[in-house]
Amino acid sequence: MADLKERQEIKVAKTVKEVRHQVKIWKKEGKSVGLVPTMGFLHAGHGSLIKRAVAENDVVIVSDFVNPTQFGPNEDLESYPRDFEVDRKFCQELGAAMIFNPEPSEMYDNPKTYVNIEGLSDGLCGAKRPIHFKGVCTVVSKLFNITGAGRAYFGEKDAQQLAIIRKMVKDLNFDVEVVGCPIVREADGLAMSSRNTYLSGDERKAALCLSKSIAKGKEVIHKGMSTKQLISTMSQVIQGEPLAKIDYLEVVDGEMLKPVEIIHDPVLVAMAVYIGKTRLIDNFSWNPEEPEV
Ligand code: PAJ
Repeated sequence: MADLKERQEIKVAKTVKEVRHQVKIWKKEGKSVGLVPTMGFLHAGHGSLIKRAVAENDVVIVSDFVNPTQFGPNEDLESYPRDFEVDRKFCQELGAAMIFNPEPSEMYDNPKTYVNIEGLSDGLCGAKRPIHFKGVCTVVSKLFNITGAGRAYFGEKDAQQLAIIRKMVKDLNFDVEVVGCPIVREADGLAMSSRNTYLSGDERKAALCLSKSIAKGKEVIHKGMSTKQLISTMSQVIQGEPLAKIDYLEVVDGEMLKPVEIIHDPVLVAMAVYIGKTRLIDNFSWNPEEPEV
């Protein structure tokens, strides 16, 4: 089946109508549909989601859309990197059946309806990006409705986003299975991100302080440890890098994202760090019952 998928030319859809038309045909043929939502400029991190989706579904739709509603007024909507032709070939090679690349006007026609999630979006990235997760939840809900996918794939790289989508799917009874996929890193440890292209040579080296801090955190974390102590140890690694500035470094539970003081149960250790002007995120999850990381 994988071979056949690779040989077929990928379908490019620009409109909701085109996606719906094709999905109707696939569903009539009894095919399962997987969805990989992305903002494009695809790298091996996205690739891991697409590969998994291709392995687990008959057909896979990759959405490639820089979603304006999740960017704040002073954020990088305009400068966000884009290269649709490269993305199209990448998805084709990995065996996706369709790439959905709508114009903003196709997705948003003077909208008055948004999907908002309470609580989980207040902290971590949401603290500095107040409208971000409202935009994410809205566009992901729309993509679920447009594609009718039975499974949707998200990266653990954006751990808060993944927790929020899981909760949204539960709260709103979306008929979709959310599949979380591990973080893909460069050989030296930097978590892959479309925003890594913003880094200068020196900043690229400095950015390693995130994954080094995570490695340190994994080394020292233990049951009964205070969050304060863990954060202090991990912060030192980042503070040793002159180009880095911590936005947040927090320990929360992985489901409701509530702050944790003493580590007894599974936790998410999440950070955002400015390297120069570029804000990078990274994280790790730790379960005291399965401590090897
Ligand atoms: P984007 O940043 O393009 O990421 C698309 C998906 O790829 C997300 O689920 C993200 O967690 C995953 N991903 C990115 N880098 C990864 C890495 N290094 N390892 C594993 N997975 C990685 O996240 C978004 O787009 C948007 O918010 C979106 C969900 C598409 C809504 O607009």
